[in-house]
Amino acid sequence: MAIEQKIQELLDKRIEAKKGGGEKRIEAQHAKGKLTARERIELLLDEGSFEEFDMFVKHRSTDFGLEKQQYLGDGVVTGHGTIDGRVVYVFSQDFTVFGGSLSETFAAKICKVMDQAMKVGAPVIGINDSGGARIQEGVKSLAGYAEIFQRNIMASGVIPQISAIFGPCAGGAVYSPALTDFVLMSEQSSYMFVTGPKVTKTVTGEDITTEDLGGAWVHGTKSGVSHFVVTNEEEGILLIRKLLSYLPQNNLEEPPLAECNDPINRLEDGLNQIIPDNPNKPYDVTDIIHAIVDDGEFLEIHRNYAKNIVIGFAKFNGMPVGIVANQPNFLAGVLDIDASRKAARFVRFCDAFNIPIVTLVDVPGFLPGSGQEYGGIIIHGAKLLFAYGEATVPKVTITLRKSYGGAHDVMGSKQLRGDINYAWPSAEIAVMGPAGAIEVLEGRKILEIKDPEERQKFIAEKEAEYRDMFANPYEAARFGYIDDVIEPRNTRFRVIRALQALATKKDVNPPKKHSNIPL
Ligand code: HXC
Repeated sequence: MAIEQKIQELLDKRIEAKKGGGEKRIEAQHAKGKLTARERIELLLDEGSFEEFDMFVKHRSTDFGLEKQQYLGDGVVTGHGTIDGRVVYVFSQDFTVFGGSLSETFAAKICKVMDQAMKVGAPVIGINDSGGARIQEGVKSLAGYAEIFQRNIMASGVIPQISAIFGPCAGGAVYSPALTDFVLMSEQSSYMFVTGPKVTKTVTGEDITTEDLGGAWVHGTKSGVSHFVVTNEEEGILLIRKLLSYLPQNNLEEPPLAECNDPINRLEDGLNQIIPDNPNKPYDVTDIIHAIVDDGEFLEIHRNYAKNIVIGFAKFNGMPVGIVANQPNFLAGVLDIDASRKAARFVRFCDAFNIPIVTLVDVPGFLPGSGQEYGGIIIHGAKLLFAYGEATVPKVTITLRKSYGGAHDVMGSKQLRGDINYAWPSAEIAVMGPAGAIEVLEGRKILEIKDPEERQKFIAEKEAEYRDMFANPYEAARFGYIDDVIEPRNTRFRVIRALQALATKKDVNPPKKHSNIPL
């Protein structure tokens, strides 16, 4: 064959590979409002940066007449490219080929990009749209999944791993995304469950739709499996690009510094009035976050799950940070099981990837009740405590208002190696709130006062006494647990100065195989 013919053969093969499962199936994919595997990669990566691997891989299966059904690439598009000029590795499952189902060779292609990403220290982005294990391949497919799981586990805490779910993701296949750092689901087309509606009905009798069992909103609000819910794939892909702008390439690098045009000493006068006089009145802590971070930009994670705590990424003078903030607007910002798990995982992510943590505290305590105790609030609350105590990245904590009881210790306190702990003048740092404290301390006397008016007066007096004595920042500042009491409007500047001072911080934990976080 002459060289011209050989080159033509190559070009023809490339055209064939790019057709995936063929025009009809591509049309069907589009008809469902979904992009193809290649269109998704094109949108995700910088223009022209994609370098594809294994375009000519074919499956090796001969059962069920599969040897006659061959598609170049075997149902997954893999390779590397750049996002904002930084290298990332990608795999994108192609539903037009055997429903994106996973074969032995399909898994090997994914493993190859994961291995290379680990070698060079670059993030991996997986786009999932698959009918699960390729049924015709039997246990080889299961082994393929396990090969991927093992790599997800080894890569955890070394390179960022992001999973987009843009179609089905069912059975054991859910566990690869679950092992990654961030899961994003499109409300239009995605679902995730270990067991689908049909088997659910057979085993438990429960009648439930696919959407109600494992749709994007279920995982974005109830289970917390999905960190982000997006309305469509384009929005999801842009969000992945944004997310990466806060993350280092790997655990040995610092997060990327951005140019900052927002003045670091910008005063926010409104913050001096934002805490209501009535301590039981809520406010929205995201207003404070937006006011103090660069350009008001905050990438909230788990926005609709455990809304009593807010987590996400922002920048201070161009430096990426993870923000954890109690949300008084929802359940008074109390810590419960879901909030503890949500924040603990985030704190650990930030610590693994050298991202400083800024904590804004307004927490009345842990949520009481049998529901929480039976559900194991002890163990879940301990996760957050553990995460803060274990973290060695710079930790800056600002107490805005309430900081009571065990929750005070948990939320980035000085004794959990908080580096710089500030409080607003409105802070109330104590063992418990005035009402609870007076009930315990003066319970007997209160019962002895028979006249209701007298009793109320006595309680009010004692509460005021307690508030003056304990419900302020100065008692904690007296012991050095709070480094300074700051004017709210100056918070941005003080946080930036704190982060600058901590930029060279070095802290290490004792050598060990690994810790035993209460799971
Ligand atoms: C082989 C598959 C496949 C699979 C789909 N296809 N799933 N081929 N193995 N697992 C093929 C179909 O035969 C069809 O081929 C094409 O993909 C599109 O599928 P449709 O059914 O036409 O599409 P749709 O109606 O959109 O339904 C999508 C679906 C459905 C809901 C995903 O295909 C489905 O239920 N598939 C089986 C899911 C499943 O049970 N998987 C195994 C789970 S167990 P043609 O040629 O007609 O286009 C598992 C264990 C993993 O995954 C364990 C890991 C530890």
